[in-house]
Amino acid sequence: MSSNGKHPSNLITVLDTGSAKTVALICEAMDVGLKYRGHGVVDSRGSRKGIIVELDKAVQSIHKAVEEAEKLAGCQVGNAVISVAGSHIKGVTSRGGVTLGQRPRDVTREDIRTAVEKARSVTLPEDREVLHLLPQEFILDEQSGVRDPAGMMGRRLEVNLHMVTASSSATQNVVTAANRAGLHVDNVVYEALMAADSTLRADEKELGVCLADIGAGSTDIIVYSDGMVAHTGVVPVGGDHFTNDVAVGLRTPLVAAEKIKKQFGHTISSKVPDGNEIEVPAVADRPSRLMPQRFLAEILEPRATELCELLRDHLKQAGVLELCPAGVVLTGGGSRMTGLAEVCQGILDRPIRLASPEPIAEMPEQMVEPEFATVVGLAMYAHRTTIAKMNPEQGFGHKLRALIARLGA
Ligand SMILES: Nc1ncnc2c1ncn2[C@@H]1O[C@H](COP(=O)(O)OP(=O)(O)OP(=O)(O)O)[C@@H](O)[C@H]1O
Ligand SMILES: [Mg+2]
Repeated sequence: MSSNGKHPSNLITVLDTGSAKTVALICEAMDVGLKYRGHGVVDSRGSRKGIIVELDKAVQSIHKAVEEAEKLAGCQVGNAVISVAGSHIKGVTSRGGVTLGQRPRDVTREDIRTAVEKARSVTLPEDREVLHLLPQEFILDEQSGVRDPAGMMGRRLEVNLHMVTASSSATQNVVTAANRAGLHVDNVVYEALMAADSTLRADEKELGVCLADIGAGSTDIIVYSDGMVAHTGVVPVGGDHFTNDVAVGLRTPLVAAEKIKKQFGHTISSKVPDGNEIEVPAVADRPSRLMPQRFLAEILEPRATELCELLRDHLKQAGVLELCPAGVVLTGGGSRMTGLAEVCQGILDRPIRLASPEPIAEMPEQMVEPEFATVVGLAMYAHRTTIAKMNPEQGFGHKLRALIARLGA
């Protein structure tokens, strides 16, 4: 939220610089929640797989998206919360604690802060920064599974802390691009955590669920169990891999491959009627050809299988597959691939749900689509952390979140 006089202070601006698209969203913080004011979407230029590869182009994309959003919102913005994702994101879990004394005493907020600081102080590899500190559980003496130890009695307080870390240089490049586009960056956050905010239900998080945000360059993963973040990770396959396969397999330009994939693609070839034909543009000046639609599905099917197997193996390896009885929720533009949910259901043997973001008041219908899950969740998150920071006297949940937001900043 901007505090400088030029920009209205009740506006929340967020920016999702994806591999495929850059989205800016401006919302207004109301007494009762958030209200949509404007958004801008442009094709991303200059970034690939979550990494900026051409700074000038990335700056232009951000500039254009923000300008569009400002036009719709009828105001100018100066600050933003931005998100990052991709293979440079790594989740690390560590444990740390504080001795309260020989005799049991009340746990204070300061004790919690110290325990979190202790758990946080593990040595991270160079060029790593912490985006989020997410306590999984507190352990008070012998009692594990404590969610909020404030006011409880004990002799020793420990915490299992999940830290979402990112490459400092990759993050800094996104911040620099936003700065050059005229935005001051208030906070940098992890995309999948944001997508979870706008798509997952409280009961799914309690029971145990995996969210897979299938973007263009990668699939970002977050697992919740008992209402807490149990794991974060990345599978290096996204929607663009499907497009590339189509371009190579059908020998057609990438732009045509993307269109054909979205319009005629299916990931289960046996479901495509025999005899259906599609027109496929050729490269250079050669004439376009008619090809069986089933052939397109035969190209997409192995990639869908690979993505779902990678997801399953990733969850197994991290020891979290068994923590997901509520199944897997798919979001992100790549989740719109026809038949993917069914392939996923077969390979992961869990319930699968396709998710679009929970709408913000007055948000246009075209944003209630899976590719906007991250940016909508970002606005919700930015709103919540702002409230938590502004009202430190509110409930402890808010205080803890504010503390975590501060420590993570
Ligand atoms: N109808 C569709 N069928 C199949 N794929 C689709 C469809 N619509 C979008 N996609 C794919 O979704 C991907 C873009 O998803 P999204 O907009 O969530 O990515 P992003 O946020 O820009 O990227 P990332 O999160 O990886 O940085 C593209 O690969 C696109 O081809
Ligand atoms: Mg994305």
